[in-house]
Amino acid sequence: MTNSNVELLKVQVRWLTERDLDAVYDLEQKCSENPWGPMEFANILMHSNCVGIVVEYQSHLIGYLIYEAQEKSIDISNIAVLPQFRRKGVASQMVARLACSLVHGTRRELRLSVRESNLPAQLFFRSLGFKAISIKRANQEMTEDSYVMQYKHKARVLPTELVMN
Ligand SMILES: CC(C)(COP(=O)(O)OP(=O)(O)OC[C@H]1O[C@@H](n2cnc3c(N)ncnc32)[C@H](O)[C@@H]1OP(=O)(O)O)[C@@H](O)C(=O)NCCC(=O)NCCS
Repeated sequence: MTNSNVELLKVQVRWLTERDLDAVYDLEQKCSENPWGPMEFANILMHSNCVGIVVEYQSHLIGYLIYEAQEKSIDISNIAVLPQFRRKGVASQMVARLACSLVHGTRRELRLSVRESNLPAQLFFRSLGFKAISIKRANQEMTEDSYVMQYKHKARVLPTELVMN
């Protein structure tokens, strides 16, 4: 899982804490066409298997990722990077951190759902080696079809230099 063409921005990648929540919520409003509300963040982060990663650049929060550790997979619930910091490898660094945990842990795959209309996100995950494996039909919660995408860990070397400074 590398993006050799990406010139990585020098950032700090760390775990999300409760103190980050306001900044994460603000960031989400600037990033997504269908932003999560405060209740969605509160509900998901209540689960003990739910973890967040944030990225800081010059002490400002510029990206975040939230995932749920399931028995056999790590499910990415949401990911976003501020528009002015996109295409600089920020999201790749967050996902690479999860991919590294597949090397050492018992889980062997990353998964997520991405809306059918969200082509940039589909292309982003494809660039990291994710494949679309099924379609989730629209329902009351999700008004649009979405693709389930999967990244399977294969026994090979993955990047370890994820925190850039
Ligand atoms: C999807 C998202 C997180 C990607 O973040 P990012 O930091 O820009 O991603 P990266 O810089 O790590 O991208 C790595 C590679 O992914 C691909 N990629 C990323 N965004 C792309 C786009 N808009 N179009 C085409 N390819 C894209 C490229 O191959 C890119 O490498 P390159 O820049 O050298 O060509 C960001 O666009 C975003 O926040 N989108 C809004 C929120 C969202 O849709 N989240 C997904 C919910 S499922």
